[in-house]
Amino acid sequence: MAGLRASTGNDAVFYLPLDLADLDSVRACAADFLARGEPLHGLVNNAGVVRARGLTKQGFELMFGVNHLGHFVLTNALLGCLTASAPARVVTVSSDSHYSAQGIDFEALRRPERGITGMHGYAVSKLCNVLFSAELARRTTGSGVTTYALHPGVVASDIWRRVPWPVRPLMMRRMLTVDQGAATSLYCATSPDVAQDSGKFYDKCAERAPSPVATPELAAELWKRSQEWTTTG
Ligand SMILES: NC(=O)c1ccc[n+]([C@@H]2O[C@H](COP(=O)([O-])OP(=O)(O)OC[C@H]3O[C@@H](n4cnc5c(N)ncnc54)[C@H](OP(=O)(O)O)[C@@H]3O)[C@@H](O)[C@H]2O)c1
Repeated sequence: MAGLRASTGNDAVFYLPLDLADLDSVRACAADFLARGEPLHGLVNNAGVVRARGLTKQGFELMFGVNHLGHFVLTNALLGCLTASAPARVVTVSSDSHYSAQGIDFEALRRPERGITGMHGYAVSKLCNVLFSAELARRTTGSGVTTYALHPGVVASDIWRRVPWPVRPLMMRRMLTVDQGAATSLYCATSPDVAQDSGKFYDKCAERAPSPVATPELAAELWKRSQEWTTTG
């Protein structure tokens, strides 16, 4: 917080605890924010895990739970405030890994990832980000809330922390810096060029066609199941 205040010169910077792997924490975070009575013009669903194994507190496959379901609950809890604050944007950081997902096995989302690399579950969770953003766009049409999903590029962030030395430093030399990796998220969150667009996928600050697997039908089914799972427990 001190670093952010110093670099921006803005004292109105607040920390709200959030564990996306625990839906009680997600709801508490949204409630804490709403209790402040602030408007909300931008929400960037950026947090994510890769090659992670296990279950969330409520028993969902960890990457699906953190990367999609936590953001699903957070966004929906804040949607009234976003709508009241319109124009407002919801940016969801996906990945080009979503192109490798062939669909969603909904039964598999209730057990830990079984794949050797952990990349299958990650790809599915990133496909869910694309589907979520598209379905949210359909549901918020005409409300002044617009939505964006994106691939940030291959970025030398902490996401590679589990790759062993010396492979990691060699691999990371060719990647985008973290500042460069934030460019497309910022473009979607702030650029006037996309103010009238909603539900699209972006890469390198430009629109890109998402996977053909990301159909409106699958997006509607994911939304319905996500809603059932998070409202009935
Ligand atoms: N790096 C890439 O090349 C790349 C490529 C494509 C897409 N992406 C996507 O970009 C986004 C950002 O990733 P990154 O590269 O910046 O990775 P990162 O450096 O590992 O950052 C991930 C962030 O997610 C947070 N997080 C993880 N689990 C969480 C949880 N349960 N609750 C709340 N926050 C949690 C982490 O918080 P803590 O530090 O507190 O754990 C961290 O701030 C992710 O959605 C990722 O899938 C990255």
